[in-house]
Amino acid sequence: MEKKILFPCVGGFVHGGDYNPDQWLDRLDILEEDVKLMKKAGVNCVTLGVFSWAAYEPEEGDFHFEWMEQIIENLFQNGIYTILSTPSGARPAWLDAKYLEAMRVDNKGLRNRHGGRHNHCMTSPRFRDKVAVIDRKLAEHLGRHPGVIMYHISNELGGECYCPQCVQKFQKYLAEKYDYDIDRLNMEWWTSFWSHHYNTFGEIEPPFANGETTIMGLNMEWKRFTTFNMNDFLQYEIEVLHSVTPQIPVTTNFMSLFGGLDYRKMAPGLDVVSWDNYPPFHNDGETFGETMLGSAFNHAVMRSLKRDTPFMMMESTPSLVNWHSINKLKRPGVHKLSCLQAVACGSDSVQYFQWRKGRGSYEQFHGAVVDHLGTDDTRVFREVAQVGELLQKIAPVAGTVVKSRAALLFDWDNRWAIWDVKALGQKTKKYEETCRDIWKVFLRLGVDMDVVGSDEDLSRYDVVVAPMLYLLQPETAGNLKAFVNRGGQLLATYFTGYVNDAQLCYLGGFPGDGLWELFGVISEEIDALYPSDRNGILLEDGSRWEVMDCAEILRVQDAKVLGTYTDDFYQGSAALTCKNHGKGNAYYVAARTEASQMSALFEKMLADAGIPVKKLPEGVEYHVRSGEEGNYEFYLNCTTEPVELSGVNGYDMVTDAPVSEKLTLPEYGAAVIRL
Ligand code: GLA
Ligand code: ZN
Repeated sequence: MEKKILFPCVGGFVHGGDYNPDQWLDRLDILEEDVKLMKKAGVNCVTLGVFSWAAYEPEEGDFHFEWMEQIIENLFQNGIYTILSTPSGARPAWLDAKYLEAMRVDNKGLRNRHGGRHNHCMTSPRFRDKVAVIDRKLAEHLGRHPGVIMYHISNELGGECYCPQCVQKFQKYLAEKYDYDIDRLNMEWWTSFWSHHYNTFGEIEPPFANGETTIMGLNMEWKRFTTFNMNDFLQYEIEVLHSVTPQIPVTTNFMSLFGGLDYRKMAPGLDVVSWDNYPPFHNDGETFGETMLGSAFNHAVMRSLKRDTPFMMMESTPSLVNWHSINKLKRPGVHKLSCLQAVACGSDSVQYFQWRKGRGSYEQFHGAVVDHLGTDDTRVFREVAQVGELLQKIAPVAGTVVKSRAALLFDWDNRWAIWDVKALGQKTKKYEETCRDIWKVFLRLGVDMDVVGSDEDLSRYDVVVAPMLYLLQPETAGNLKAFVNRGGQLLATYFTGYVNDAQLCYLGGFPGDGLWELFGVISEEIDALYPSDRNGILLEDGSRWEVMDCAEILRVQDAKVLGTYTDDFYQGSAALTCKNHGKGNAYYVAARTEASQMSALFEKMLADAGIPVKKLPEGVEYHVRSGEEGNYEFYLNCTTEPVELSGVNGYDMVTDAPVSEKLTLPEYGAAVIRL
């Protein structure tokens, strides 16, 4: 497969981060010092202008780009490239004072006041005009500079607006979606319930907190609309930039599992997916290795939005953040390990928020490469500089990708439907945790699953796990059947196939849309367990899985029963089944268990699919990136003890030494093995 190096001029990995010179324009000495320090830290690229609107346009129509041009030029002369952001993430005060409608309205209908960020109305034509003007000028004045290698649109898009213009746009969106057929909408939203029938699209309000929140179809469409409208805004900004500088690629920084926007709908409009990674390292609720696995899952979600190209880790902290409940420092060595993890998972960049700590305001104590102390003689700076060196050493890895033959299905629509549904235990639905926990077990087996949408093409996979696929997209059942019929190993769980994409229940048996035939079981009832309740599943080999939170009672049609309940009135009935379809198998797990208890079953699925499993010591992560020249294996020791691994052969690009059979990693150590 051909390598796609994101930025050939950088010649490998991007190393840098958010740089806010606009906070230091009166301190030229500091700006000069910054460039020197960046070179020392091995920084080859910075992100500029994320929040620079007020500096570019201090008063309406009065534009100043010279200062930024000088900065870009000076960096460029010193071998440092620029990712140029559009400044739409925060508005200057003059703009809000003059154009009230630029400010967002909340879900009680109250207009925000000026301040903060990420709080514009996505619909407002006036605000869009203002953004178009600044973006066009930005592209004209700065976008043609040879140092600018990418545009970064706005910042961490998110939130909803309930202003009258957004409400109107929502109504239009619905009318178009339903072909102006209000009867169809009423039917799909089941509005005969509680007399909530609509006569016209104009009567429909979004789910105001003090209004209509009980129609599942409405709630879902509002979320879909918010994605649609945010994406529309994003594409609007992209079009303005492209009209001036079409050759410059674009990204916007996502936030992994952020629930407010369906990133899968937004990614196709971007050249590169990027995201901001802030794991709660060293927290007191889980082991460090678990936190790392959680972060690896997030990387997999982001990486899978564009499966055949590297992504970028647009932000991370060199030391600590200022917004976790406890802002703990990354322990020595952890910075390098977590940066290498991003690379191992497919990132072609290691970028930070932020280069230098500001003196004041909200983020003055957020970690940075350069602290208030102002020197390179700090632990954090040294660790960052080491990462800079390391990225140079492993530069040939850039452009390669993670390729997986196993996938986990994970949907935003399904998330939203599960959040909203009045069923199970309100606090124990745990859709995301369930997906993540299963994904982690696969990674522990050395299998770095892709995380893809339930309507995506599954032809590249041999193992598919679909936890809690409550809502089925129109294509899902067909895709899953085709997958198993061509020999795929599929596992689904309780709470699968209850509703269609309008959230209307399937009639005639769950999992619906004909899926019960694939699994050979019908779920007749679902029981929710109190947190202290336990049941169990007794397997054929005598082992027992513990059951918590929810358990379905099955009618077995034509599947093999592999496990039965140990307790309660459904004791002895089927809890784990498998239906054979030639080489393909469709497994159904009817109750929630610890994901780790399913490990042996996952191993069997992988073995049947011919996917090799790797047994690793506790706390060691394994990832592979592949390119035309072969594979690079990453071993990450996410523990505070040295570990010894056997069966590792190749050349370690970290230590610059061959490895034959035995690899020893120090605490938080990592190896990148070229095969
Ligand atoms: C987000 C934002 C940044 C900054 C960091 C702090 O990722 O994009 O501007 O606020 O958080 O962690
Ligand atoms: Zn609005």
